[in-house]
Amino acid sequence: MYKYLKINYSPKLKGTVTISGAKNAALPIIASSILSKSEVNFINVPEVADVKTLLKLLKNLGAEFKFENHNLKIDTSDINNTTAVYEIVKTMRASILVLGPLLARFGHCKVSLPGGCAIGARPVDLHLKALKLMGADISIEQGYINAKGKLKGTDIIFDKITVTGTENIIMAASLAKGKTRIINAAKEPEVTQLCEILKDAGVDIKGIGSDEIIIYGTDGELLEFKTTEIIPDRIEAGTYLAAAAITNSRITLNNVIPEHLEGILVKFKEMGFDFEENERNLTILPAKKIAPVKIVTTEYPGFPTDMQAQFMAIATQANGMSVIEERLFENRFMHVPELNRLGANISINGKVATIIGPSKLIGADVMATDLRASSALVLAGLIAKGETNVHRIYHLFRGYENFVEKFKNLGAKMEILNEEKP
Ligand code: EPZ
Repeated sequence: MYKYLKINYSPKLKGTVTISGAKNAALPIIASSILSKSEVNFINVPEVADVKTLLKLLKNLGAEFKFENHNLKIDTSDINNTTAVYEIVKTMRASILVLGPLLARFGHCKVSLPGGCAIGARPVDLHLKALKLMGADISIEQGYINAKGKLKGTDIIFDKITVTGTENIIMAASLAKGKTRIINAAKEPEVTQLCEILKDAGVDIKGIGSDEIIIYGTDGELLEFKTTEIIPDRIEAGTYLAAAAITNSRITLNNVIPEHLEGILVKFKEMGFDFEENERNLTILPAKKIAPVKIVTTEYPGFPTDMQAQFMAIATQANGMSVIEERLFENRFMHVPELNRLGANISINGKVATIIGPSKLIGADVMATDLRASSALVLAGLIAKGETNVHRIYHLFRGYENFVEKFKNLGAKMEILNEEKP
């Protein structure tokens, strides 16, 4: 049964929202538990669909876990199967994150190739090329990656910056024999937290947070993890700030790390918004007049591609022409035709979208296509007159914990309903 989200015009939000743990930190960190000799304890783990999918995959391999109230205890010592099956991997491409740890620990594994996804082909060629350089024998058979071999440290230069590619190699290198140098490494905060956790677990890692990371592997010696708190989700935080911006409201976010948001905050300021910051709280202040913006998505610490759709929704309310260039993924504008159905005035030319605002949006039925595009449709639905129904809303629950409750607490009028049969 499909569910959809009905949103009624909610032109003003107010109050505070607490940000959950970062999905894109939790996924590699949970995968890294494969490298542990005993049970590992993680706290502030977001209860979102993608985390539950990864736990289902690890259970399928033989791991045991207890996950309640954002507290995850996972024990992978009894893993007796190293095949990550298509049925699970096809539902979440980040399953590729078990490849590096499984190969490093067991010397062999079979991982289904993640299908493409709506936002692009998203190949994993760079992950495989790097593992081959570390001595792995890799073949692709019937849609599966067959990997085997004892991993040895070496120099790896990534042709493109890849977040999960960097994470896979950091985990593989942690148990390899000798020194691995990763050049052109991703610097996202989620990569940094993975390095910090592995360092605390006994791996000698240098250059954490930089684009050159050096890992001295333990040569097969399993790790002893310490209890760790997952960092707050900077994209969830950015999405709630975008909700405040599009309704020109004042709201406060609890549990954020402002430094992780710098690439986003600078664009909010360009549009006329301002902020009050202290330690881990952040308040966004309404703009006198929402100004248009120019955005190019780049790797961290630049403006993140995962906030592109949300800013496009805000730009529909800006006074003038905004321009957004998407440089990381080849097909990440699927929210454009849906926003235009609501009355936006957006045109696309290759990788560049041009948004003329302000547009009066009128509620309509729209279709979510991927996680972040769906959040952009919800934002637009807040200020569209009348009722907006966002279909295929399951995309949203992959990465946003308690989305509806958090928005209703801010004054948004929305509810989840079951699709009637067409
Ligand atoms: C991570 O995906 C995030 N997912 C994505 O978030 C995010 O959009 C992306 O990084 C970019 O920031 C997780 O961390 C689980 P990439 P990832 O490898 O690692 C190309 C969300 O909304 N590439 O950094 O898969 C690739 O096609 C998700 O939470 C290759 O060509 O992204 C893309 O164009 C969506 N070959 C670019 O590099 C490879 O082997 C960046 O991809 C790997 C990547």
